[in-house]
Amino acid sequence: MTTRTVVIIPTYNEIENLPLIVGRVRAATPEVDILVVDDNSPDGTGALADELAAEDHHIRVLHRQGKEGLGAAYKEAFVWALDQGYTRLVEMDADGSHAPEQLPDLLAAAYNADVVLGSRWIPGGGVVNWPLHRQLLSRGGSLYSRIMLGLPAKDVTGGYRVFSAHAIETIRLETVHSQGYGFQVDMLWHAHRVGLRIVEVPITFVERELGESKISGGIVVEAMLRVTGWGIRYLPSRLSRKSKPVPAEAQR
Ligand code: GDD
Ligand code: MN
Repeated sequence: MTTRTVVIIPTYNEIENLPLIVGRVRAATPEVDILVVDDNSPDGTGALADELAAEDHHIRVLHRQGKEGLGAAYKEAFVWALDQGYTRLVEMDADGSHAPEQLPDLLAAAYNADVVLGSRWIPGGGVVNWPLHRQLLSRGGSLYSRIMLGLPAKDVTGGYRVFSAHAIETIRLETVHSQGYGFQVDMLWHAHRVGLRIVEVPITFVERELGESKISGGIVVEAMLRVTGWGIRYLPSRLSRKSKPVPAEAQR
């Protein structure tokens, strides 16, 4: 089967970053396509995306009604990408934090895995210019999620990933309910429970220079509450089965 890869880039007010990231992806991996998923950004990111798409048939755009969070944007994009016949679906932030130049490393790992996680918290990975409070939040969130859920990864909240089409189909998106960045933990938690092959590849996350992060207290609280709830709900089955994944039919 031929491999067809799409890089999905969610955007909300990323007008300065969009041309830069699109240019870098096209240069680093000329064979892959790009899907921009814009939540009707007030700054005109969506219109700029349309202009870029008009000049390059490798670029497509999904316009959504309004800001409904990262999870909702990715879910719509995944459905679109499966429908288009893509076999590999890449998640990438628009702000340059995820270097397109490292994408070939992630895609190489995807030959032997269903889910490839770009990881800041394994040897070879790291962060540049990230404030200490964000590092602590990320490391702490990953540690807490690993303890509560038994996730087999060091960086569980990251947003630079490759999913196979098989992985997305197996996860069943209608059972993934997180809206904010907790969506990343949610997807990994689902992938783990259905027994998909998960690997981490080191990445260097570089904090954005242009525009602003969209993270908020509400996003953090949503993720914390959900992880805690899942942890408690699945503790009995984790204790009785040890590390054996719960079969797909047993999922809610
Ligand atoms: N369409 C859409 N809708 N895009 C969104 C939304 C939304 O509601 N919220 C954020 N985005 C886009 C941003 O425009 C950007 O391209 C990407 O999602 C990441 O947003 P940032 O606001 O830059 O995230 P961050 O740098 O604070 O957080 C990073 O670290 C988190 C924790 O590890 C990202 O890598 C997250 O994915 C990650 O969970
Ligand atoms: Mn960012």
